[in-house]
Amino acid sequence: MSEPQSDADPQVTPYADFGGEEFFTSLVAAFYRRVATDDILRPMYPDADLAAAERRLRLFLMQYWGGPTTYDDERGHPRLRMRHMDFAIDGAARDRWLTLMRDAMAEQVLTEGQENRLWMYFVSAAFAMQNIPDDPAGQPLPTVG
Ligand code: HEM
Repeated sequence: MSEPQSDADPQVTPYADFGGEEFFTSLVAAFYRRVATDDILRPMYPDADLAAAERRLRLFLMQYWGGPTTYDDERGHPRLRMRHMDFAIDGAARDRWLTLMRDAMAEQVLTEGQENRLWMYFVSAAFAMQNIPDDPAGQPLPTVG
């Protein structure tokens, strides 16, 4: 008896399933178009030109989802949380990042399954990147003594 059909073919990488390089190029371009004018995120980017940052995110996502490993070849192991430590990422920055990515996703052609898969990943990755706690007071813990 054959296995029930699943829409996730194990032979096909998510990278290919989403639409390969063309898809990730379009998604990340739509995201950075928004970053360029964003009052919270834009000031966090050190470079005047966002093109290099756009390329790094594109290559990272392509690699993460099973595509070419150009990111690793150029940048080494991602260690993303560590690479974000230079930037003060609080809940507002995290939520803005997700909002802009959500809007960028809405411009793409995705099935509901693809959209859910991608979105679950972005939410958990963005929460993992937060490095300033949500505590509304935002104060460090008092020291004893
Ligand atoms: C939570 C909010 C986030 C903020 C505020 C943020 C901000 C930044 C900033 C300012 C940079 C430096 C730009 C540059 O590459 O020159 C950066 C780099 C990067 N970010 Fe984020 N980021 C966030 C979340 C994420 C998430 C969720 C991912 C992945 C899904 C991601 C992937 C990357 C990558 C791949 C780089 C380049 C790392 C490198 O090779 O140096 N970021 N991010």
